Amino acid sequence: MLFRDAPSRVSINEVSVRDGFQSEPQFVPTHEKIRLIDRLSLSGVARIEVTSFVSPKAIPNLRDAAEVMAGITRQPGVVYAALVPNDRGAERALAAKADEINLVMSIGESHNLANMRMTCAQSLAAFRAVMATVAGSGVKVNGVVATAFGCPFEGVQPLSRVLWAAEEYLALGMDGLALCDTTGMAFPRQVETYCRGVLQAFPKVPLTLHFHNTRGMGLANVLAALSVGVDSFDGSLGGIGGCPFAPGATGNVCTEDTVHMLEGCGVATGVDLDALLELARAMPALLGHEVPGQVARAGKSTDLHPCVATVAQ
Ligand code: COA
Ligand code: ZN
Repeated sequence: MLFRDAPSRVSINEVSVRDGFQSEPQFVPTHEKIRLIDRLSLSGVARIEVTSFVSPKAIPNLRDAAEVMAGITRQPGVVYAALVPNDRGAERALAAKADEINLVMSIGESHNLANMRMTCAQSLAAFRAVMATVAGSGVKVNGVVATAFGCPFEGVQPLSRVLWAAEEYLALGMDGLALCDTTGMAFPRQVETYCRGVLQAFPKVPLTLHFHNTRGMGLANVLAALSVGVDSFDGSLGGIGGCPFAPGATGNVCTEDTVHMLEGCGVATGVDLDALLELARAMPALLGHEVPGQVARAGKSTDLHPCVATVAQ
């Protein structure tokens, strides 16, 4: 049943360099960001969320957004996206030649205030200005529904509120939707229901799911979304990540663990898992601490070990 309606191929979007690096205790040097993005560009991921054009006071770690965008070597077929909160960010993203812009609003009013310092109405007004700025540029805009499954301050968000945000986004002319479980509150059954609801309401709109593994449900949630037909997933190398404005937020689902699971289940990702694992294994040295990803430590399930046991005489 789980795989009956599942797509046979999915897109993997890498967000470690945005969602991950934004919350690291230490600033990751610009040249290291560029080096990693250039390697990720060759790994087969469909999209890279390169950075965010937000206030450098809010997210000091990504204050080098323009330099990073200017320094990377773009590969054909890979989409280079940037997160944007307002019109100022959109102008900066356009100047940096982002292929796509991700506009973020949390549907939990309290988290939107904590994160964006705006009410939802103010975010939507800002997005209207962004859409006017972006019009005619050819840049695609994704509407990101943050805290889609639960808000750390307000609790579970109903599906009707997710659908409301999606309708508002599409009415503004956005091209795609993303549901984000910002603080890892989603349960697989809820994910199944919400994804089915959004796919039924907007069957022609590209939909991406973005999970955090805060409570160990990340991969189960990927499977729940996959089972109803979702074919695009965000992941973070090493499983790093987390919103600095949400209490207790921790990393995204780990990209290499996700690819390992999906490929092992016969779902094609187009990603070179060995290349990802090599990059993931370099993360602790880059960041100065261990990272949560598991396959990089354990090895792939197909990696066999020499058996040294002998029969007792
Ligand atoms: N890029 C660069 N600078 C920006 C900016 C942008 N997109 N938007 C605002 N700023 C600057 C302003 O110029 C101002 O600078 P100043 O103090 O030197 O004059 C400062 O940021 C504050 O601007 P203001 O309009 O008063 O915004 P605010 O303080 O109410 O913050 C946001 C609103 C949205 C700009 C800020 O909360 C933000 O960037 N949040 C992003 C949070 C985030 O990325 N979270 C994780 C990802 S989900
Ligand atoms: Zn996130």
